[in-house]
This record gives sequence, structure tokens and C-alpha cells, in this order.
Amino acid sequence: MSNRSSKGLAVVRNSSEEEGMKARILCFAGSTREASFNRRLARAAARAVEEAGGEATLMDLRDHPLPLYDGDLEASAGLPLGVRPLKELFKTHHGLFIASPEYNGSMSAVLKNTLDWVSRPTSDEAGTVPYADKVVALCAASPGALGGLRGLVHLRAVLQSVGALVLSEQLAVGSAASAFTVEDRLADARLQQMLDRTAARLVDVAGRLRP
Ligand SMILES: Cc1cc2nc3c(=O)[nH]c(=O)nc-3n(C[C@H](O)[C@H](O)[C@H](O)COP(=O)(O)O)c2cc1C
Repeated sequence: MSNRSSKGLAVVRNSSEEEGMKARILCFAGSTREASFNRRLARAAARAVEEAGGEATLMDLRDHPLPLYDGDLEASAGLPLGVRPLKELFKTHHGLFIASPEYNGSMSAVLKNTLDWVSRPTSDEAGTVPYADKVVALCAASPGALGGLRGLVHLRAVLQSVGALVLSEQLAVGSAASAFTVEDRLADARLQQMLDRTAARLVDVAGRLRP
């Protein structure tokens, strides 16, 4: 069976495990902080993805340092070395599960900077390619009461503007210092259930839309 219709639209499948291939989900946090709550949430999300039948890759943005985006730098030196491996990681996964910190009501600078560099075109590829047919689930953790929920509104808009399909399911984990168990699960059963449901939906939709 062909993966794409004659119009280039992704063929919808019935199951993420059809033809024996699991939906591959790239999980990462928008924080590089050693004790980051969002890093713990990304780990919890990766486990939930695996339990939902997907294949999770846990990525750490600390391993992908990039300069702040500067158009002059790009014009004179092209893409920084670290961008192409990131583009490949995005392209070789069917979905993303992003745990985003909230800074002043928006996403973190390191996350926005990463998404911006990944969206830059190369001589042979449009900038939207790493985001094409990408299904994305969002979550956030914060010591505050709202759990970083406001930042997800901005992150959703950014991802939609580059062509990703962002699921309506999401979760925000407040009082993050006491929100995780030692195994990086969510102590609140209701929140863990939301995470599990979001992961299951991500694995299902990403599996159906995979190219
Ligand atoms: C510049 C800055 C702005 C922040 N703004 C918010 C905010 O708007 N809402 C919020 O809930 N927490 C805010 N915080 C607190 C972060 O949620 C907290 O530092 C959190 O631990 C960051 O995520 P991490 O643990 O994954 O690194 C802010 C922190 C910084 C450094």
C-alpha cells in the first residue's frame, strides 16, 4: 500500500501498530535545568507513550545547544552544526511530546529558539518539512498554581504556524515540587490519568497519520 495519496495527503491508518511499526514519539522538555520539573514531566510522558504502545525517544535540549537565532549568522555561516541532527530527529519521529516551562506567561527562550532554528529552510528542503504531518502533544509543569498552562497557548500557536497538528488534549502540572513520585510518575492519580490519555491519543493519531 502506498503511504501517500496522489494529492500528497497522508493515508489514514486504523492502528499505530499496523504493519508492525510503532508510532515513534520524540519527548523533550523546554528546559535545560538539571533539576527541571519539565524534564521529569518529559520522562513521565515518555513512559506513558511506551505504555500506550508507542516508541518513545527521550531528548534533552542540553545535548543540542544552539546559538541564539541571528539572521546575519545564518547568512554568513549557514545553519549551526547542531541544527541538522535536530531536524533529522524531528523528521524521523511521527510525533512530539513537549513539556514546556512557562516564563512570563509564554514558553522558554531555549524552546522557542530550538523550534525557530529547526524551521529554517535549507537549499534542498523547506523549513516546514520537519513539522509536516507531525502530531504534537503539550504539557507543562510549574511551581505555580496554574502549572504553566498560559505558556501552552503560545506554544500551540507557534507549532500550528509551522504546520504541526497540535492535539487538544494537554495537561498542566501545578505545585511541581511535590507533583512527582520518585519514579517520575505524577502523584495525583487524576493528572497521571490525563497524561496517560494524552499519550494514548498522541500514539493513536501519530500512528494513523504517519507517512
Ligand atoms: C524568567 C522567568 C519567568 C517565569 N515566569 C513564570 C510564569 O509566568 N508562570 C509560572 O508558572 N512560572 C514562572 N516561572 C517559574 C518557572 O515555572 C520555574 O522556574 C520552573 O521551575 C521552570 O521550569 P523547569 O523546572 O522545567 O526548569 C518563571 C521563571 C523564570 C526564570
